[in-house]
Amino acid sequence: MTELAIGLVGFGWMGRRHTEAYQRLPHHFPEAPVPRLEVVAEVDPDLRAAASALGYRRAVEAWQEVIADQRVDAVSIATPNWLHREVAVAAATAGRHIWLEKPAGRDLADARAIAAAVAAAGVATVVGFDLRFAPCIRRAREIVAAGELGEIHSVRAAFLTDYAADPAAPHGWRFRRDLAGSGALGDLMAHLVDLSRFLVGEIVAVGATCTTVVPERPAPDDPGRMIPVENEDQVVAVARFAGGATGQLEASRVAPGRRSEISIELTGSDGALSWRFDRLNELRVAGRPSAAPSGWTRRHADGSFPGYAAFQPAPGLPMGYDDLKVLGAHELCRAVAGEAGIAPVADAVRTAAVLAAMEGSPSAERPRAVEYD
Ligand SMILES: NC(=O)c1ccc[n+]([C@@H]2O[C@H](COP(=O)([O-])OP(=O)(O)OC[C@H]3O[C@@H](n4cnc5c(N)ncnc54)[C@H](O)[C@@H]3O)[C@@H](O)[C@H]2O)c1
Repeated sequence: MTELAIGLVGFGWMGRRHTEAYQRLPHHFPEAPVPRLEVVAEVDPDLRAAASALGYRRAVEAWQEVIADQRVDAVSIATPNWLHREVAVAAATAGRHIWLEKPAGRDLADARAIAAAVAAAGVATVVGFDLRFAPCIRRAREIVAAGELGEIHSVRAAFLTDYAADPAAPHGWRFRRDLAGSGALGDLMAHLVDLSRFLVGEIVAVGATCTTVVPERPAPDDPGRMIPVENEDQVVAVARFAGGATGQLEASRVAPGRRSEISIELTGSDGALSWRFDRLNELRVAGRPSAAPSGWTRRHADGSFPGYAAFQPAPGLPMGYDDLKVLGAHELCRAVAGEAGIAPVADAVRTAAVLAAMEGSPSAERPRAVEYD
């Protein structure tokens, strides 16, 4: 396959990132099929015009036209969560490969329905758990798998952000159960659960305290009218991993001063590692206290880190979030070619099962088992 014809649904924030990633793919992965921007569906007419200007051959209002277009090989789904299931099931059933934004629907039932359609159709999938693609995270996974940290006994992860910290911030789809499903759980905690599972292994039990801090917000079109917030603003969770580690996971969309602060630390019997999103290309690693050098050492990504060499020939140059999307587009090509991917929808189902257990648990102090099947 030399070309991959793309259909995209939802040309908002993530839809534009997918588009840009497709356009940049040949620069970074010249051996991959060249994406061809075939058709985009977007309900906002201004965004449809923008999508046409940025290279799509056709811009339509109804997403069903994307699925029906026989030229389309793969569909990017970047709508609000409530449409993930309907569009993904239709795309899979029509034999289209899928790059689906996280969290793969509103809840576990949505994620399972998508996975079932994908399995029945045998199409390739990538879910937008972008942190998996970061070269330092891939290296961290290698370090854990090589046993460099010994027995991992502690996982600390946080995703703290302030996009909803101002009570005057307007209501939107992210605050509605019917459109988003959960709040900070699906939006932010999903990344932490996915990342922890990717690095440390399966989570067997969780407890979580979910809190709605701002109970109502002004309507976007009428600031004098208040609308209830239907899902949680913050989650504090405790997790038990199959390998024996205990995790503390915290997600908040109402944390003043925090601007997309994502971090993870693993502590084991022989060492520890630490990574944070705002230092995407830097991994801090420590050995035992008696090892030399003692304390943290910094490892900057270079060509030996998975994925890095596609971007820079020299070590230690900063990569950014958009580069992770290019790696996501490459994952899609790899999956379409039949290679084992690192972010298939089956993983999103397992992450959704952990989130469901968090939501169903009475509190962080009272964990319950995760039911995967
Ligand atoms: N991977 C990540 O880290 C990450 C980051 C942000 C958002 N997301 C996910 O991406 C998805 C989209 O989020 P966003 O921030 O881009 O939202 P957004 O609101 O910016 O964009 C969504 C777009 O979908 C369009 N849309 C709505 N209904 C539609 C329909 N019926 N047909 C076609 N288009 C329709 C909207 O007009 C809008 O332009 C969500 O599932 C979100 O969770 C993932």
